[in-house]
Amino acid sequence: EKGGFEHFMLKEIHEQPKALRDTMASRIAHDLSINLHDLDDIDIEKAGKLFIVACGTAYHAGVVGKYLIERMARLPVEVDIASEFRYRQPIISKGDLAIVISQSGETADTLAALRELKRQGATVIAIANVVGSTITREANKVLYTWAGPEIAVASTKAYTTQLLVITMIALYMAKRRGAMKQRNIDDIVSDIIKLPDKAQSILNGKEAVQHYAAQHFSAHSIFFIGRGLDYALAMEGSLKLKEISYIHSEAYAAGELKHGTIALIEPGTLVVALATQPELFDKMLSNIKEVKARGAVVMAVVQEGNTAIEDVADYVIYLPDTSSWLVPMLGVIPLQLFAYYTALYKGCDVDKPRNLAKSVTVE
Ligand code: F6R
Repeated sequence: EKGGFEHFMLKEIHEQPKALRDTMASRIAHDLSINLHDLDDIDIEKAGKLFIVACGTAYHAGVVGKYLIERMARLPVEVDIASEFRYRQPIISKGDLAIVISQSGETADTLAALRELKRQGATVIAIANVVGSTITREANKVLYTWAGPEIAVASTKAYTTQLLVITMIALYMAKRRGAMKQRNIDDIVSDIIKLPDKAQSILNGKEAVQHYAAQHFSAHSIFFIGRGLDYALAMEGSLKLKEISYIHSEAYAAGELKHGTIALIEPGTLVVALATQPELFDKMLSNIKEVKARGAVVMAVVQEGNTAIEDVADYVIYLPDTSSWLVPMLGVIPLQLFAYYTALYKGCDVDKPRNLAKSVTVE
């Protein structure tokens, strides 16, 4: 049942090329147009605000979604953790839009947020993986991630496919709102089509990541830093590591380090620096130099060709070149592998980490 893999998590990490392919299959036409016809009758042109609500890894996909929808479709987005959203008395107006994201479709906090959004007149789109789950039955619209069953507690292929669906929504909304030139949309869509092969090439090079994990599995604290989309990705890398390896880990917006967290950097502390966004690359280089000056060991993740990073980082993971908007779908793969191998070397129960359940149906 594990298809020759030692754990479900490793199997599911390797299923990402197929999961991405299946999730885009019926939604991208030969002429590169995005088919999300289920959303055609929603008044996206006039929407004033969009809420994104989810928990855990699905929330991290939502944070990426906020960047993409605001920047591509120029629609204001608020993104919340479901258990916080319900109690902050959010200001929702009739005609507002919402996206709830859930692999299982059964998470109690996300379901409660969905009900509150609907009660106050928002139109709710669910991004979910389990067909027929409660959230899919209660939402106004459903877009499935065709990731297939996810067994390991740590979410992997659900996250990448959630990112893919939300990217397609952002492009679809950008077109409906006239916020992007068709040529620019087409360029991104043609890069989307190439993602499964690029994901595969990262998996083919997994030994390098395994090697870094072998050197750091006894760390007591690891930091993930990034800016923009890389900050959103840092949150997911950090969660993956802590939940299965039990190593304390934090994600920080790189520019925020010097406002406090840099105090925790000691000689030998591992900092995973995500520097995949061209317009933020120079700023990231300065942040990396700041942590290096305090003795950190830096593992950097960058896009192919950015060799300038080798002057400052101790190890570099190169990602296949793609549109900077799409990078999180590739960049998460080395982070998942790093968490997996770290937990494996520590002897942890990778598929069933302590204290966690696959689906959280209590609030
Ligand atoms: C982390 C993880 C959890 C879930 C969260 C939401 O690897 O699996 O953080 O992402 O419990 O679950 P769903 O997506 O089923 O609502």
